[in-house]
Amino acid sequence: MTDHLTIVDHPLVQHKLSLMRDRETPTAVFRQLLREISQLLAYEITRELDMTTRAIETPMQAMDAPVLDGKKLALISILRAGNGLLDGVLELIPSARVGFVGLYRDEETLQPVEYYFKVPTELEDRLVIALDPMLATGNSSAAAVTRLKEAGARNIRFLCLLAAPEGVARMAEAHPDVPIVTAALDHKLNDIGYIVPGLGDAGDRMFGTK
Ligand code: URA
Repeated sequence: MTDHLTIVDHPLVQHKLSLMRDRETPTAVFRQLLREISQLLAYEITRELDMTTRAIETPMQAMDAPVLDGKKLALISILRAGNGLLDGVLELIPSARVGFVGLYRDEETLQPVEYYFKVPTELEDRLVIALDPMLATGNSSAAAVTRLKEAGARNIRFLCLLAAPEGVARMAEAHPDVPIVTAALDHKLNDIGYIVPGLGDAGDRMFGTK
């Protein structure tokens, strides 16, 4: 991928996103829509995967058939909301390896602090897709990507549902080599760091917490 930001403006993605934004949409429906939309976004983010061919025989004749090349890719869920994207993407790419990054924000320093980090081996040889539905300030996303690079990842893409201009700018500054794929670029952050118009707290909406 060469573009730093790809907005997937496919009608199905946009329709599902509008349903998710609606505050009246119940938790179970929100979760199902997130699963569906994650697969459409994953389709886009994997568009340029390396390919090779494998000799097979169809019932009709021998052929060199196109198959994915290289090591199994790694899906990294940025906790906890990343888990909402993970299930759908794993359905599409069942052989992917999976990792988790947990960060919280220190209320005094306002810096992200890591509380969990478990990722697949040989990250340097894999396409790594980091998953987080909301790219808001970009601080925790940028910190998570930094940790993935420290663990060896060299080829990283970032998959989110909604992005704020502030988050996109932060990622472009910290990680210009990491392409972002999203369903929409919203207007701005409000003064407590929520995306507007947005959809509220993605974790709360998908897990039914408050
Ligand atoms: N995280 C969310 O869940 N929602 C936002 O709007 C911003 C960050």
